[in-house]
Amino acid sequence: MRKKIVAGNWKMNKNLEEGLSLSSEIIHIAADELRNDAKIVIIPPFIHLYAVSKLMQGNQKISLGAQNCAYKEEGAYTGEVSAKMLASLPVQYCIVGHSERREYFKESNAELAEKVNLLLAEGITPIFCCGETSAQRAQGIQLDWVCGQLKESLFHLDSDNFAKIIIAYEPLWAIGTGVTASTEEAQEMHEGIRNFITARYGETVAQSISILYGGSVKPENAKELFACKDIDGGLIGGASLKARGFIDIIKAF
Ligand code: PGA
Repeated sequence: MRKKIVAGNWKMNKNLEEGLSLSSEIIHIAADELRNDAKIVIIPPFIHLYAVSKLMQGNQKISLGAQNCAYKEEGAYTGEVSAKMLASLPVQYCIVGHSERREYFKESNAELAEKVNLLLAEGITPIFCCGETSAQRAQGIQLDWVCGQLKESLFHLDSDNFAKIIIAYEPLWAIGTGVTASTEEAQEMHEGIRNFITARYGETVAQSISILYGGSVKPENAKELFACKDIDGGLIGGASLKARGFIDIIKAF
């Protein structure tokens, strides 16, 4: 059985006080209401991580993730946060290659491969994002594009390390737009990604990898997305900023 995961990416939202209050709300509602076995990951901005980790101490259901890490190990990289620093906190997950970072910060597939290596070396699970633009979809090259992203940033890994990765398929045209991929479009891509992984790593590894869908997931559409055979959860942006909605998405399993 693949792990079911719902991760909330807060992006650059919430000051520390707001972040702590959102975290406690999520922790309390989750304890009261959640009975399924989905793993919950809260991914706040860097400056919240330490304080949120204190709130989450001992919590078996909810884990902490970071939104990014540096592609270098340490040194003179002003403004960056290393995988090693993240590992000095109870950070278990880290997003790699979110489309906003690829677009605004020009992160390349090669840099992302370095980030993946550094995170794995620290025992942190990368949540590797991939996805196509609407123009690429219009040309019908969405699967080739996404497979190229996987190949260039992940396929250097051996099977044991690759098996530790979580993939998040996030079509760029669906992120923050309110437009969700249809269940057919999403399932087709997830299946294509899994087949591509099967060809490189074999059936056992491919069947064990959690592939999350991201892009305008909300309580109203989570159920039908999560019911798809190859969709193992979601990476949630906007809808993770309200505890009630976020928990309702997790309940959709
Ligand atoms: P969204 O963002 O849910 O606001 O569309 C998803 C993401 O960017 O991870």
